[in-house]
Amino acid sequence: MKNKALIWFGSPHKVGYTAQMVNELANALSDDTEIFIYNCYEENPRPCIDCGFCKQQEGCSSSDLDGLYAALEESNILIIASPVYNMGFPSPLKAVIDRMQRYYNARFSLGKKPPIPAAKRAYLLLTAGSGEGVSFCIIHQQLEQMFTILNAKLKKTVLLSSTDENPALEQALEKIYDIAKDINQS
Ligand SMILES: Cc1cc2nc3c(=O)[nH]c(=O)nc-3n(C[C@H](O)[C@H](O)[C@H](O)COP(=O)(O)O)c2cc1C
Repeated sequence: MKNKALIWFGSPHKVGYTAQMVNELANALSDDTEIFIYNCYEENPRPCIDCGFCKQQEGCSSSDLDGLYAALEESNILIIASPVYNMGFPSPLKAVIDRMQRYYNARFSLGKKPPIPAAKRAYLLLTAGSGEGVSFCIIHQQLEQMFTILNAKLKKTVLLSSTDENPALEQALEKIYDIAKDINQS
């Protein structure tokens, strides 16, 4: 396999707009890409409790994300696919983001640079009930610091907005196929 893609799936709906975008992307990827999907609602990750464990040694005091951490460290592609909830991420996905604190502390408390050696290209797939708005900027700002810590660079974002009324699904899917092309050519 040339690529290892890790997808953080943030919707509670197995059949929904976010799922549709993820399925289209997965179907458009070539066999050269191994895909690992982490379903945040099914896995129900524990929240970060700022216990300080990761300031003293690498790792996390909770073992529930051991598989996810291993997949993340091996992947060269990170895809975050989620609906917008209250201008941010649904709480199970937000828990995953907060649990990346172990890498923040690996970098800034333990001096590991970079905390994850394998560089990643990141892609963001968002769906939102209303039109494109401030939540788009807020989410990008929220992710900026985390991407740095994860050794990831955000390459492309697709926002499927207005899902409450009249979503421009075809335009969003065109962008999804662009991402697939990007990954398949790499
Ligand atoms: C709790 C909750 C909060 C939401 N907050 C927002 C919001 O802040 N902005 C927005 O545009 N849509 C918001 N929505 C709408 C969802 O983003 C939208 O329905 C999305 O398309 C659902 O994607 P899915 O079908 O993949 O689950 C919210 C929905 C829920 C259930």
